[in-house]
Formats: sequence, structure tokens, C-alpha cells
Amino acid sequence: MDKISVEGGSRLYGRTVIGGMKNSALPVIYACLLIKDECIIENVPRVSDVENSLQILRGMGAYADFVGEHTVRIDASSVGGEIKDFPLVSKMRASSYLMGSLLSRFGEAHLPMPGGCNFGARPIEQHLKGFSYLGATCSEENGLITIKAKEKLKSAKITLDKISVGATINTVLASVLVDGETVIENVAREPHVIDLINFLNACGAKIVHLGSKIVIEGVKELHGIKYRIYPDMIESLTYMACVGVCGGEAELIGAEFSHISYVCDIFGKMGLEIKSDRERIIVKSRGNINGADVITAPYPLFPTDLHPQFAAMLCFANGGGTVTEEIFPGRFGYVAELWKMGAHIVREKNSVIISKSEMHAAELDATDLRAGAALIVASLGADGRSIVNNVGYIVRGYENIVGKISDLGGKIKFIKEI
Ligand code: EPU
Repeated sequence: MDKISVEGGSRLYGRTVIGGMKNSALPVIYACLLIKDECIIENVPRVSDVENSLQILRGMGAYADFVGEHTVRIDASSVGGEIKDFPLVSKMRASSYLMGSLLSRFGEAHLPMPGGCNFGARPIEQHLKGFSYLGATCSEENGLITIKAKEKLKSAKITLDKISVGATINTVLASVLVDGETVIENVAREPHVIDLINFLNACGAKIVHLGSKIVIEGVKELHGIKYRIYPDMIESLTYMACVGVCGGEAELIGAEFSHISYVCDIFGKMGLEIKSDRERIIVKSRGNINGADVITAPYPLFPTDLHPQFAAMLCFANGGGTVTEEIFPGRFGYVAELWKMGAHIVREKNSVIISKSEMHAAELDATDLRAGAALIVASLGADGRSIVNNVGYIVRGYENIVGKISDLGGKIKFIKEI
């Protein structure tokens, strides 16, 4: 099993490039199934969730591959509606986007229950609710999902009971080619939702995102396009957290401030200095940060995907702080790992109360993607050499995390086990 070794305790100085947003690239890749034409997608991160998604599309008969360092070409003109690689679909949450795309293109979708990071139940009833409004019938038996439209899908007024990135995206995918006007209320407004809508509009769709609702005027077909994915906001914030605990100064080339201004404001109050222009964010820290209390919530508020890394930061913060998790109540796998490093963390229901701790190196196990990133943040700030196991989780969503932290001056190494 591959590992990452981190020698903590030194300041970070350097610059690195922020890649494309994983959670945008994935729905855009699955949206290409709606298009009988070639699409060129730029700024796609080389992470395993992307590689696996391209493999799923290839299994269905599409051309789907990297044709440049971060450029993907997808031609789904000749795909069939049958998914060949069920085990791969069950490994990943984003494969749920097959439901919306296949329902739209073939009038039906049969697939296993999508997987994803292991932090508790990940229900999909809101996705299915969206499809039902459009006239499809949905059923689940022995972990297999069947969605079927007896007749052509029809436009609808849909209200989701819960704000969900996945259900919003899937409902958009299913309705973009449906005649008439579909309105989806109570939608997610994360930058990745906007990125997908921008992509579809560039392909000829007529979609307007109005904050809490999305209005879709169905079009007959979509055409191929060249499109560039937004920079990854969680990758940017993770490296900012590294600078927060270590001190130093980092230039994050390509990072987009407007997507993360809510968190940057909190980082500012914790003592980080943040400057940005159109090409970069520069973050500076004396390594002597203040605590904060945060509650995760849908965008534009505090992102759940930064919860574990932020909790790791609080272990080094004067006065400590709290994180309350309102999106995924099971997202606390990192806590027991930080305990191994000496962290004072008390869990109470869906909150953690964290005090400033004497953090030391330890051998740690990543329990999911962002938990793995949190262990790297903590290891960079702690004295001594830590080892992070289960690197497979981290490479699902961070491209070359070792190279990028090395660019910033971090003493970090990838240990390939044969
Ligand atoms: N939910 C339901 N029913 C549904 C759908 C969602 O109850 O039918 C609940 C979820 O259990 C959760 C909340 O609604 O409590 C929000 O879930 P959402 O659907 O927004 O999450 P998701 O689409 O499954 C995406 C990202 C996650 C990110 C969340 C929230 C992808 C592939 N995944 O998941 O990313 O945490 O949105 O922003 O885009 C990550 O990158 O580490 C990651 C987990």
C-alpha cells in the first residue's frame, strides 16, 4: 500500500498551480453522454475519480480520454445505454450522474447504487424525486436502481425537499432536453453546479440559475464544445490551511477568490493574510493562528469538504474552536487519527470541540478523501515525521498533492510500496 511521509515543523514558502475542480469535472464528463458530438474539456484534474469516470464512459462505447496533460476529449455519439462496469460505478458517488444523463438520452437507466466516501448514508431519494416529477418511474431492488420513462419525459415544476448538489445536477441533466419549461426550486448553488450549467449552456442549453431556483427551457439537442473547468476551491483552501498551520507564504496560481470569499473571511479573522488578483491568491501566515467556530452548510456558507482540514488547523489555533457538521453527520473519521498525534478533540453529536494541542508525529490512516487531506495538514504542522496510509482515498480528489506541497516547500514524500 502506498504511503505519504511528512516531515513537519517547517515554514512553507513557494508557489504552486491549482488544478481544475474535481466536483465540476465529474458532472461535465457525465453530461457529455447527452451530446452526440465531440467535446474538449480543459483543466480536468488527473484524479482517480476522473480516470474511473472516463473508464465507465469508454465501457459504454464512448471515446473518453486525456489527450493532453489536463485536456479530455469525449465523443459519446455512439454509446449504448448499457453500463458495463458495475463495480466501478459502485465505487464512486459521481457515477450517480449516469442516472440523469442516461434517462435523458435513452429514456431509461439501470445501475448499481453509487458509492462514495464512507461517511454515513448517502441517500438518493431527492434525485429520484426529480426524475419522477419529469414522468419517470424509479425503483431500487437488491442495490440495483432502475429508472424508466414509459413515454417522453415532460417538463415540470419540481421542488426538492433538501438542498443537494447531486440531486440538483441530476435533475438538470434529465430536464435539459425536455420540451417546455422546467423549474427546479430549492437548488444547490455551489460553483460546481454553476460550472455544469455554464457548460451545458455553451453546448446550446437554455438554463438560468436564479439563486434558489433553476429555470430550464428545453432544447432539441446539444452540440459539442471546448470548455474550461473552474479551479478547485477545496484544493485551494486545503493548501491555505497548510500555510495556516506552518506559517510562511504561498502563491496559489489559478485559484479563484470569489468562490471562497466566505472562508477567506474566516481565515482572515484567524490571522492569515490573503491577497488575490485575477491570476492567483497569495496567503501569508505567521503560523500563530487564532481559533474559530464554524458550521458547515450549503454554498455560499462553510463547505463540508473543508471540515476535516479546518479541524486539523484548529489543533494549532490559540483558543481552539469548534466545527459543527450539518451536511454529513458521519464525517468524523479523522478524529481518532488526530488523537494519535496528541490532539485534544471532544466529539459531541455532530460537533467537535478542539483545543490547541501539542501535536506530534504519528502513523495515521486516511479514512476518506478530505480526512486524508486533514492528516497531511496536521502532519505538516506537527514536529517529527508522520506517515499517512491509505493514500488511495487522497488521490481520488487531489492531483499530485505531494508535488504541490513540495512546490510550497513542504517536506513530503510519496512512498510507493511494491
Ligand atoms: N441528501 C439526501 N437525499 C438525497 C441527496 C442528498 O438526504 O437524495 C442529503 C445528503 O445525505 C447530505 C445532503 O443532502 O446530507 C447534501 O448532499 P449532496 O447531495 O449535496 O452531496 P453529494 O452530491 O452526494 C457532493 C460532492 C461532495 C460534497 C457534497 C456537498 C461530488 C461528487 N460530491 O456530494 O464532495 O461534500 O456535494 O457539497 O460532487 C468531496 O469532494 O470530498 C465530497 C464528498
